[in-house]
Amino acid sequence: MTKSAVPPYTLLAEHYDDVFVFANPWRENARERILARILTRAASCCDLACGTGSTAVELAKRGLKVYAVDLSPTMCDKARAKAARETVDVTVIEADMRRFRLPEKVDLITCEFDALNHVPRKPDLSLVARCAARALKPGGHFYFDVNTRLAFEEVWPMTWFVERPGLALVMHGDFDPRAGRAWTTAEFFIQNGGLWERHSERVEEVCWSPAEISQALSAAGFEGIKCRDAVPFFGSDALVRRGHRSIYLARLGLGR
Ligand SMILES: C[S@@+](CC[C@H](N)C(=O)[O-])C[C@H]1O[C@@H](n2cnc3c(N)ncnc32)[C@H](O)[C@@H]1O
Repeated sequence: MTKSAVPPYTLLAEHYDDVFVFANPWRENARERILARILTRAASCCDLACGTGSTAVELAKRGLKVYAVDLSPTMCDKARAKAARETVDVTVIEADMRRFRLPEKVDLITCEFDALNHVPRKPDLSLVARCAARALKPGGHFYFDVNTRLAFEEVWPMTWFVERPGLALVMHGDFDPRAGRAWTTAEFFIQNGGLWERHSERVEEVCWSPAEISQALSAAGFEGIKCRDAVPFFGSDALVRRGHRSIYLARLGLGR
């Protein structure tokens, strides 16, 4: 057996749509319900930390002009390929959400499935909020969800196993409450002919309190910050309970 460590969202990007398919219904459900009115008026948007491009493609199919930003080159390739397959225009930009710039201002920024928890340092949240504000038209909306401290305490220490033909994936992690940081190691076992290769990828997330999020958003010029629990959008997922995930919607002030 060979063994290697690869950067985050390389192999996870390759297998993302298969392994995390369970998250599609709640993400779609939350987006449809929370953004319904905004989506009828928006002409352009950016999906920040777009992953394999599912949300970007969905928004492009609704007729919006769509930008999609992600740090992982593999995720960007996947998003471009998905847009091409679905014959929609999505401009995919490989960039860090702490520094991204768009060619024009947009009406809406989405950032789903705890992507915002991924930036590595506490002050990074303010950087992302400022970049989002710069990328939005006055009155534009920033929509995102985050894992909460309770999810890091209760869900991240669990071990999770997925098996497919030619693939076994074990994810196991933990949370350091003092540092406010969680991590998961994805151990991949991939069949290559008669041999199995082992690769591991480590994903880290930072935990923010609602106060830290509101403060970063307000300082960047966002108003009317609304926070909802994600449970009503999940249906019957035994692993998700009230307090595990929060969904935020904030509006950029008209004076910006
Ligand atoms: C859990 S995935 C979510 C992907 C997608 N939003 C979804 O809903 O499926 C997290 C994504 O954040 C991206 N990411 C992590 N750190 C980033 C950063 N600093 N800037 C931009 N993207 C980042 C990863 O490459 C990955 O695609």
